[in-house]
Amino acid sequence: MRIVLVGPPGAGKGTQAALLAERLGIPHISTGNLFRDNISQGTELGLAVKQILDEGGLVPDEVTIAMAADRLAQPDAGDGFLLDGFPRNIAQAQALDELLGKDGHKLTAVLDLEVPEDEVVKRIAGRRMCRKNSQHVFHMEYAPPAVPGVCDECGGELYQRSDDQEDTVRHRLELYHQETEPIIGYYREQGLVVTIQALGPVPEITQRALSALPEAD
Ligand code: AP5
Ligand code: ZN
Repeated sequence: MRIVLVGPPGAGKGTQAALLAERLGIPHISTGNLFRDNISQGTELGLAVKQILDEGGLVPDEVTIAMAADRLAQPDAGDGFLLDGFPRNIAQAQALDELLGKDGHKLTAVLDLEVPEDEVVKRIAGRRMCRKNSQHVFHMEYAPPAVPGVCDECGGELYQRSDDQEDTVRHRLELYHQETEPIIGYYREQGLVVTIQALGPVPEITQRALSALPEAD
């Protein structure tokens, strides 16, 4: 299965992607996590994009597309993947179609997570991430760790993302409406969009997604 996950910042894309990827046996590929891993490792790419992420802007397409293409070319993504945070605008969506088309592949579905804006703001305000593994995500109120500040899964330190400040979140939401929402129309024309309500307990949303997705190809 080749799946793209879309939804506003804080919709729960990372949370659902980790669970769905495990259930479907495909890798979870998050461009946000790839950028953050590069930043924490101090790579050249990390240094180049740090300020853009801190300000909640979008990394230029050529950089993002090259990084995504690199990751998609790895062997574990050959039979399927779950993309989280990419594509994020029409140019990236076209680039992905082209990339897959070269190997005679196409997307199976685009899973669109619908969450009211006041809820995403609450989710982002309480989010805490693990320094050791960016797939370990907690929430102070909705998914608190057993020991404050410590990851349940690996003991890593929990921190608040630099782009989770209120002003930056507002900017990220604006960019989502301007740049990313149009890709839903683009994919709807291809008959790929599956929309689910992403409010409620995490496992119920995973179940909703699994029932809504087409059968594995
Ligand atoms: P990215 O990491 O993709 O950020 P995002 O899209 O803003 O999404 P988030 O990570 O904020 O939220 P999420 O939907 O994954 O929610 P989560 O599961 O954590 O991108 C970061 C930056 O990288 C961008 O701003 C940009 O600079 C750059 N970038 C990345 N991709 C790019 C691209 N393609 N092009 C250009 N630039 C790019 O959940 C949120 C919180 O809610 C958590 O605390 C969680 O525990 C909680 N939660 C989850 N589900 C529920 C639930 N059902 N009920 C209650 N709480 C819940
Ligand atoms: Zn952890």
